[in-house]
Amino acid sequence: MEKIVILTGAGISAESGLSTFRDEGGLWAQHRIEDVATPEAFARNPALVQGFYNARRVQAAQVQPNAAHQALAQLQRDWPGEVVIVTQNVDSLHEAGGASGVIHMHGILSGALCAACGHRWTAPPEMAPDEPCPACNAPSGRPDIVWFGEMPYHMEDIFDHLTTASIFAAIGTSGEVYPAAAFVHEAQAAGAHTIEINLEPTGGGFDERLLGKATETVPRWVDRLLMAKT
Ligand code: APR
Repeated sequence: MEKIVILTGAGISAESGLSTFRDEGGLWAQHRIEDVATPEAFARNPALVQGFYNARRVQAAQVQPNAAHQALAQLQRDWPGEVVIVTQNVDSLHEAGGASGVIHMHGILSGALCAACGHRWTAPPEMAPDEPCPACNAPSGRPDIVWFGEMPYHMEDIFDHLTTASIFAAIGTSGEVYPAAAFVHEAQAAGAHTIEINLEPTGGGFDERLLGKATETVPRWVDRLLMAKT
C-alpha cells in the first residue's frame, strides 16, 4: 500500500497563532539566530537563550491545533498505508491534533536535555539559566532543541522513510534550512510523487503544488487522497 511521508514547517502552526521564522515579523526578524539559537549563544548568554525558549514554550502551551494538524491526524487514521509525519516544528500541535509517531527532527519545546550528561526530562514551563539536571545535578539543563550547527535528530529513520515513500508532501516550510530542504530530492530520487502545500511556491522542484492557507489546503488534500482510495 502507498506510504505517505509528510514534512511540516512553521507554516502549519501559523494559523494556530505561533510565529513562523522567515515571514514578515517572524522570529528571525525579532531575534538574531546567533544570539538565541546556537550552542555558542547558550554558552555566552544562557539567560537570553532560556528566556527566548521560555517565551516560546509558554506561548506554545496556550495555542490549539488547527484544521491542518487535525486533517493529517485523520489521514493517519483513515489511509490504508503508513503515514509518517516529520516535523521541523518544536511545538506539540501535531500530537494535540491527534497525530501519532511524529518525528521531531529539530527537537521539542516540552523537552529538556542535560548538556553535561545527556539526560532528558520534561521541561518545566520556564527553565533557569543554570537549570539543574535531575540526574547528575549539574546546572546544565538546556532546551532539547536542535540549534544551528547541531545535527538534527532521527536522520537515519527519516532517510529510510524518504526512500520508501510513494507520496512526499512538504507543508508550510520555506525550504531554506538543510537537511530538511533536500528531503524532496531524496523522495523524488526514490520515485515518490512530491507535492508542496504552502501560501506560495518555494521553488523546490515539486511535482505538484497546492497554494493557500494550510487550514484550507491540507483538509482539501486529505479529502482528495481519501476519496481516491474509497
Ligand atoms: N499556510 C501555509 N503555509 C504558510 C502559512 C499558512 N497559513 N503561513 C506561512 N506559511 C509558509 C510560508 O510561506 C513559508 O514558506 O510557511 C513557511 C514558513 O517558513 P519558515 O518561517 O522559514 O519556517 P520553516 O520552514 O519551518 O523553518 C525551518 O528553520 O529557523 C529554523 O529550526 C527552524 O525549524 C525551523 C527551520
